[in-house]
Amino acid sequence: MTLTTEWQDTYRIGVPEIDHQHQYFLLLIQRLEKMLHSDPPLAHLLDSVDELIKYAAFHFKSEENMMRFAHYPDLFNHTVSHLKLLEQLRLQSLKLAHLDPDPEDLIQFLVKWFLDHTTGEDLDFKLFLDSQTRPDH
Ligand SMILES: [Fe+2]
Repeated sequence: MTLTTEWQDTYRIGVPEIDHQHQYFLLLIQRLEKMLHSDPPLAHLLDSVDELIKYAAFHFKSEENMMRFAHYPDLFNHTVSHLKLLEQLRLQSLKLAHLDPDPEDLIQFLVKWFLDHTTGEDLDFKLFLDSQTRPDH
């Protein structure tokens, strides 16, 4: 199945700050996809991937701080998972620099990576926030 880089309403988890950052992250993937189709110099490509990695690192730190503020009990596991995701992303960047991957594969990897993160773990955080604000708690 080919994954689209267009923002879908189903990606929204319902925490505005996180959703905004996710939308921007997807925009960076879209830009990269457009760029790949114009056969750019490798250095330009790596700069864009670097921007993506830095934004992901910022986003993760931002989420971890939000989770700490909310006393999220799963903060440690979530932080470990962020570290692993960043490593995967850095590894892909390294492959891009040293091997000759299919650009389409890279985009598919990025979108899948994005979806696993947003619709998996971030949704768990949203459910936790909901459970904290319900009147019976
Ligand atoms: Fe996130």
